[in-house]
Amino acid sequence: MTDTWQVLLDSSTLRGHLVEDARIGLTAAEKWLPPKYFYDDLGSDLFDQITRLPEYYPTRAEQGLLDKYADEIAAVAGAEMLLELGSGSSEKTRVLLDALDRTGHLVGYSPVDVSAGALRAAVAGLRADYPTLPVHATIADFDVHLDELPAPGSRMIAFLGSTLGNYPPEQRAVFLSGLAQSMHAGETLLLGLDLVKEPARLVAAYDDAAGVTAEFNRNVLRVLNRELNADFDPDRFAHVARWDPEQEWIQMRLRATEQMQVQLADLGLTVTFARGEEIRTEISAKFRRDRIAAELREAGLTCEHWWTDDDYALTLARRLDG
Ligand code: SAH
Ligand code: AVI
Repeated sequence: MTDTWQVLLDSSTLRGHLVEDARIGLTAAEKWLPPKYFYDDLGSDLFDQITRLPEYYPTRAEQGLLDKYADEIAAVAGAEMLLELGSGSSEKTRVLLDALDRTGHLVGYSPVDVSAGALRAAVAGLRADYPTLPVHATIADFDVHLDELPAPGSRMIAFLGSTLGNYPPEQRAVFLSGLAQSMHAGETLLLGLDLVKEPARLVAAYDDAAGVTAEFNRNVLRVLNRELNADFDPDRFAHVARWDPEQEWIQMRLRATEQMQVQLADLGLTVTFARGEEIRTEISAKFRRDRIAAELREAGLTCEHWWTDDDYALTLARRLDG
């Protein structure tokens, strides 16, 4: 079986978005960058290392829930296609593919990711272990391309890893309603969600002792250097992970360790940093059942199932009309 590929986002378009986002984010009063630019080849590799860190429990928790409930999930979803947003390495997905295959209805898997390198490696691994599974891979930005994603049969859309938490609430609402609008009646969304818990465990998960998350965070500066001809010195930015108890999210930031000027040559832009000034690079919101059920309802999806180990949850929501 050969794979099919669809490129909705080429590297020059992605770079164009980075040009716009860097200009807006780095000239704002409080500097920020969107998290999707972490994931070049090195960033995707660093994220994979994060998933194996002792402090980073979400991946193991989600894998544990999938191992336990995949057959139940497959039975209630009743899907022919698994479409996965932000699929990364597709490692955890395998247990879902196996369970969907056991229902006898699975006709294919469609991973979608902004990171072409991660997608290529994931598809090569799947090809070796699932030689007869049709795989249709799409390089796309789910902020932009939800309406253009493959829909060849009744789908379960998986959005795992708590990646939904990387949106601030207003953008999350826009994303969820856009996603719901793109779904057909009866199709389901399987969401992996990290839950609110003690701050010490949360902060440790984003500030590991080995410093892998710090390197992942600083990698966005290397992406800016390479893509925009910038001269950030990543060593002059400290990694910061902070729990915000009101917003119930972790913020990752990069703090300038000294006053400096950075040139972004391709933008003709000079950015000044005061000592201690920070760039917000990611938020990672943590969830509560009632609130996410309400958000899904608001978007047009009905939350039908909730599987949890109290640290982490999987929820299955369905588009009933449409
Ligand atoms: N689902 C995997 C990977 C999570 S990391 C897991 O649970 O382990 C987040 C993934 O989403 C990365 O592979 C990243 O490249 C992808 N991603 C981030 N922003 C994206 C966007 N806007 N569009 C498409 N993919 C995106
Ligand atoms: C992909 N995303 C859900 C991860 C998270 O936990 O927010 C990214 C990450 N950032 C730091 N560590 C992991």
